[in-house]
Amino acid sequence: MHGEFVLDAADALKSARLMRVNHAGEVSAQALYQGQGLTARDPRVAEAMRQAATEEMDHLAWCEQRLRELNGRTSLLNPLWYAGSFAIGALAGSLGDKASLGFIAETERQVEAHLRGHLDRLPAADRRSRAIVEQMTHDEAGHGAHAASLGAAQLPFPLRSAMRMTARLMTFTSLWL
Ligand SMILES: [Fe+2]
Ligand SMILES: [Fe+2]
Repeated sequence: MHGEFVLDAADALKSARLMRVNHAGEVSAQALYQGQGLTARDPRVAEAMRQAATEEMDHLAWCEQRLRELNGRTSLLNPLWYAGSFAIGALAGSLGDKASLGFIAETERQVEAHLRGHLDRLPAADRRSRAIVEQMTHDEAGHGAHAASLGAAQLPFPLRSAMRMTARLMTFTSLWL
């Protein structure tokens, strides 16, 4: 590919593992937004969900494409992440728009922090993966800010902690499986 550095095998392997985690995260993002879009009440909220879902679809496609280029594979657990996230999204949506927006704002905040962590860990030579993760970080911050501007409720601390633990479990398992 034009402008692409040739990665050594160790860097390609490292990138593929990190991008597999991000791909799994985007599978979850799809499912969350789809679940929430189903149950959103205010048309402005439903529209914001649809808009964000479209960008999440781009993210998923970029991660998948990059994984292919790195000869990596997607996570075996993706169907599980999809099903679980869809159910959680539908549940969050059923609690009302403020809670649902709060859930998005918190999720996107956590995802943004996670992606920033990956920018520290991705090999410097892997400019393509880095560019993808940088754009995703920017978009996730936008999704979170948009949800906040529409009136997101602050989620209770135990729920935020539970979300962080779930994300950690997903991140860890997708590195390996
Ligand atoms: Fe995303
Ligand atoms: Fe997002």
